[in-house]
Amino acid sequence: EKRSLILGIETSCDDTGCAIVDNEGNILGEALNSQHLIHLRHGGIIPPIAQDLHRENIDNVVNEALKAANITCNDVDAVATTVKPGLPLSLTIGMKYGKYLCKTYNKPFIPIHHMEAHALTARMHDPNIQFPFLVLLISGGHCLLAIAQDVDKFLLMGQSHDDAPGEVFDKMARRLLLKNIPEYSKLSGGQAIELAASRATDALEFHLTPTLLKYRDCNFSFAGNKNQFQHHIKKQERKFDLAPDAVIPGFHNLCAGLLLVVTRHLCHRVQRGIEYAKLKKLIPVDRQTLVVSGGVACNNFIARGLEMVCEELNYRMVRPPPKLCTDNGVMIAWNGMERWRTNKGIVNALDSIEIQKS
Ligand code: KG4
Ligand code: ZN
Repeated sequence: EKRSLILGIETSCDDTGCAIVDNEGNILGEALNSQHLIHLRHGGIIPPIAQDLHRENIDNVVNEALKAANITCNDVDAVATTVKPGLPLSLTIGMKYGKYLCKTYNKPFIPIHHMEAHALTARMHDPNIQFPFLVLLISGGHCLLAIAQDVDKFLLMGQSHDDAPGEVFDKMARRLLLKNIPEYSKLSGGQAIELAASRATDALEFHLTPTLLKYRDCNFSFAGNKNQFQHHIKKQERKFDLAPDAVIPGFHNLCAGLLLVVTRHLCHRVQRGIEYAKLKKLIPVDRQTLVVSGGVACNNFIARGLEMVCEELNYRMVRPPPKLCTDNGVMIAWNGMERWRTNKGIVNALDSIEIQKS
């Protein structure tokens, strides 16, 4: 295979990312600017602020990645950029910048679907993963189970009816005021919940009921548990006379209860998905792999639960390293490479109307 280089740009949410990868999956250079701490101060992502920060940083991030790779944009074969899904204001910055690079250096533009990129990153991390494979994507914006059949072909088996698990963790960590504890102040909601849960004394003190147990599909739902969790918080608030900035008493056990019920739910739905795929022979016996990716895949407790399900059902589980599970430029560059070498979905930079429509 001829050596090729793809530059990837990611701005779908609150991370400005850029990376250059080659066709063997080597990362030549990468850069990432996270807006996490700024959004934490506002109590959540405010889209126009996120957009301003992307605009301020994109030039530096791209140049930093090119510099680390010791190349210029002339040396790359194409520019890949996230075009959906995500915050429209944030996406616009990356798309405009990607197209600007394509025009300036006369390179093809490869539009990338953010969730497909999360799924395909696993193939860069482990080239033995071949299509078709099962993939669970769990992040702050998404929760879906799919079969990746090809670079550009995904069979959706189930998705969340309401919130995404990372979103629940982020909101509940905020509600518990965990950021007022120095040790937790810089963590994402999911990381904060994981740390608190690891220090619990009784994960069953606050009962949270597993959802959709009777639903014979592979969809997900987290809103019910979120409401139960908030109800427990209110009870704690009533029980204790709290100062306005006080962390909710019993938060370790509360977090453990939440993490447990979310894990049970994810395991249950994945088990159903694997059983369905077996029944319908959707994945050949020698390819039975579950890829788990997206920010929430960084959670070791959830991963252990899913590993147990996989072990029982003779599936191999693959989880990219945390740095590749959360949003980054590498996954976009790699997805660009997967499309580039199979000649799928590469467009001219001037076809911008086409891209925005899709
Ligand atoms: O994939 P990602 O970087 O961005 C989205 O596309 O959403 O995922 C970010 C999400 C956040 O909601 C964050 O709380 C969650 O991933 N997350 C975790 C952990 N680390 C990050 N959730 C649970 N456990 C973790 N260790
Ligand atoms: Zn993501």
